[in-house]
Amino acid sequence: MDEIISPAKAIDGVITLPGDKSISHRYAMLSAIAEGPSTISNYSTGADCQSTLRAMEALGAQVERRDGKIIVSGGTLREPDGELDAGNSGSTIRMLSGILAAQPFTSRIGGDESLSRRPMQRIIGPLTEMGASIEARDGRFPPLTIHGRPLHGIDYTLPMASAQVKSCVLLAGLFAKGDTIVREPVRTRDHTEIALKEFGADLEIEGRTITLREGAKLTGRELVVPGDLSSAAFFLVAALLVPEANLVIHGVGLNPTRSALLDFLVGMGASIKVLDVSQTGGELIGDLRVRASKITGGVIEGPMTAALIDEIPALAVLGAASEHGLTVRDGSELRVKETDRIATIETNFRRMGVNIETAPDGFYLPGPQKFHAAELDSEGDHRIAMAFSVAALAADGPCRIRGAGAAGVSFPEFFSTLREIAG
Ligand code: S3P
Repeated sequence: MDEIISPAKAIDGVITLPGDKSISHRYAMLSAIAEGPSTISNYSTGADCQSTLRAMEALGAQVERRDGKIIVSGGTLREPDGELDAGNSGSTIRMLSGILAAQPFTSRIGGDESLSRRPMQRIIGPLTEMGASIEARDGRFPPLTIHGRPLHGIDYTLPMASAQVKSCVLLAGLFAKGDTIVREPVRTRDHTEIALKEFGADLEIEGRTITLREGAKLTGRELVVPGDLSSAAFFLVAALLVPEANLVIHGVGLNPTRSALLDFLVGMGASIKVLDVSQTGGELIGDLRVRASKITGGVIEGPMTAALIDEIPALAVLGAASEHGLTVRDGSELRVKETDRIATIETNFRRMGVNIETAPDGFYLPGPQKFHAAELDSEGDHRIAMAFSVAALAADGPCRIRGAGAAGVSFPEFFSTLREIAG
């Protein structure tokens, strides 16, 4: 599916976003292994989270969709009939593998072409250390054949900043004999830790060390998924890119391990106000008001890169239009996302006549630069589709976004919402 995006002068309106993708995955998985029913409101409408839900159903959980909520009745999982399909979703395959590794059956899990190129050694390593037996294509790639085994807890230091790997080990730890300890080099999103506590697990967190006590008994909960801040990022950038803006985004997740985005934008001069903050299921939630602002530019490096990893495509767009430009360092993980994002950002900017210098772990975008109308391509990556649709709002003519449908991986309503606020 292609979309044609015309330049916009103003962004305004009041919008609500679908549920956070990261939190939705975790709630689906935990409610499927918890005793008793869980009710989840505002579950992500994105294809990735639907993949998780279908996988949990294939593993025996009962899922009812009622009045915009989902009710998951979980407990003991059963052997699935066929291969589990994670679609495009790295979170599904990596986190669910932790659960599958401990089940008394063999399962196979794979996904689409992009997922089949993503590295899985990072979860195979710790799960094998815990006693699991996993076969992968070429020893590294999906599909994975997971022979469930009794697991034992480990003390594991993550070699890279990855919330998916951390979560995989913790989920496996739920079924392991002995405590499971995970040490992070850099703090990453802590939705798994928060959700595990909500469902009743015994967890201690000291700095960047998480200890999950043996023998957790999880029970079903009533949960509300906050709006997705990573999806909000595209609209915040849109508002900061056009000459006039007054946009309110309701009910967005403001977890401190995700909200570095807001600090970074404000640090670059963005006028963003956070209103009506409350808590749900241990997660912070609030409204955002953003107005047009002069953006100076900045540098993303070190732990900040991990904290902003999903927002970098959107921030690149803003950075190229900013006064002093944007530098991104320490982002080699960008090369193993749904696409090699350093490459897909570079290709699309070049099509728009925007200069960019790339490095193995990042890029430099001088600013301010003009965006020329062009034919752009998501290359099947949802965040590239959305970031360059936003870039098109500031171009000097209409742009065609090839493969725009990829946005549906996390945000099927993206284009209708964009039309609503950009007129
Ligand atoms: C996610 C963690 C990040 C992020 C992904 C979602 C999660 O991946 O890029 O979109 O929900 O835990 P990594 O763990 O590979 O950094």
